[in-house]
Amino acid sequence: MVMMRWMAPSPDRPRGVTIMGSTGSVGQSTVDLIAREPQSYRVEALVAGTSVEALAEQARRLHARVAVVANPQRYRALKDALAGTSIEAAAGPDAVIEAAQRPAEWVMAAIVGFAGLAPVLAAARRGAMVALANKEALVCAGRLLTEAVRDAGGVLLPVDSEHNAIFQVFDADQRSTIERLILTASGGPFRNWSLADMAEATREQALAHPNWDMGATISIDSATMMNKGLELIEAHLLFGLPAEQIDIVVHPQSVIHSMVAYRDGSVLAQLGTQDMRVPISHSLGWPSRIDSPAARLEFTDLAPLTFERPDSRRFPSLRLAREALVIGGSAPIVLNAANEVAVAAFLVGRIGFLDIARVVEDVMMASGSMSDDVDGLQQLQAADAEARHRAEEAVKGHSLTN
Ligand SMILES: NC(=O)c1ccc[n+]([C@@H]2O[C@H](COP(=O)([O-])OP(=O)(O)OC[C@H]3O[C@@H](n4cnc5c(N)ncnc54)[C@H](OP(=O)(O)O)[C@@H]3O)[C@@H](O)[C@H]2O)c1
Repeated sequence: MVMMRWMAPSPDRPRGVTIMGSTGSVGQSTVDLIAREPQSYRVEALVAGTSVEALAEQARRLHARVAVVANPQRYRALKDALAGTSIEAAAGPDAVIEAAQRPAEWVMAAIVGFAGLAPVLAAARRGAMVALANKEALVCAGRLLTEAVRDAGGVLLPVDSEHNAIFQVFDADQRSTIERLILTASGGPFRNWSLADMAEATREQALAHPNWDMGATISIDSATMMNKGLELIEAHLLFGLPAEQIDIVVHPQSVIHSMVAYRDGSVLAQLGTQDMRVPISHSLGWPSRIDSPAARLEFTDLAPLTFERPDSRRFPSLRLAREALVIGGSAPIVLNAANEVAVAAFLVGRIGFLDIARVVEDVMMASGSMSDDVDGLQQLQAADAEARHRAEEAVKGHSLTN
């Protein structure tokens, strides 16, 4: 039935696609894949935050119908950069949502952070196939987003390499036979660092991920392991298993992208090189498989695969995220908002590396019970704004310039 509704992209039937966050790390990988097979896609809209030159170059290359920049002050620059083409230019948050509403069968959700939620929801509400890289949107609006997808008859395709791996080996027809999900984690750049050294970690050291080349926010989230905490919540929402049936295992080589353990003792894994074009290709071609230019695994050349327990003493973000998942209600919104504010403050040198988790913990402590359900986008946005305000205060409390 699914196969009848969702046809694979091909030169005979180009797939209509929109890329939200096209100028970022995931966005550029998506553009790269589409540019290699232009006859298989019709590019409806490309969306960026502020980078108009890169956006206009992509729009010209992919013959997009519309290019949208979220920052309204960049409209004139975008218009100028698209001069001489028939590509429509638009700007501002409403234009971003309108871009998500345009008729594209497949939408890559690769805006970073809570800012991506409203457009993801708009795409989900019209029944699009949503390729979800923007984990923060799902973490903050789990029920709202999954219900929107279900009600509109769309689908959420996980792009995060771990969730994409699980999606590939998850037997949805026999859910009761699944015992556990095992999320693998690289451990980030500070996997072996002492707490004393982590306290002194610089921005450059925290951004230097050992295995993956990613945007700044997710790189810092990988260094604190908040990324894995957010992924824990994401896994719960995508696959429906409770927190106690989702394990996190540190696997520094990042060859096994995640696993599903079954009741009969079988464990199914998805493996690959560290190239986001593999999970992006999986979702871009879904339900078929398409070619990807990613390097192939050469098993005989691989370093030994090793596994370790995560250390929540040095990486308290793991514990905080697990607590947020168990509390439910607004707790994941508070966790994410405080983390986004703290990461931004670390990136500009206002707080130290270990202060990121301290800010998140302070805000969660100050936010009361948090367990009440939050319904509707406006309530979610209000909870996010309140947590951001508290986080700004907490950042001042931990400021390096005090
Ligand atoms: N990078 C990875 O390998 C990876 C892997 C798994 C999951 N993810 C997830 O994918 C998402 C994107 O990550 P990334 O590493 O690609 O981030 P990134 O490199 O920082 O790119 C973010 C993109 O979002 C755009 N953007 C930022 N704020 C916006 C706003 N308010 N409205 C519209 N667009 C906005 C940026 O535009 P400008 O360029 O103009 O700023 C850029 O195109 C994140 O949720 C991340 O957790 C990433």
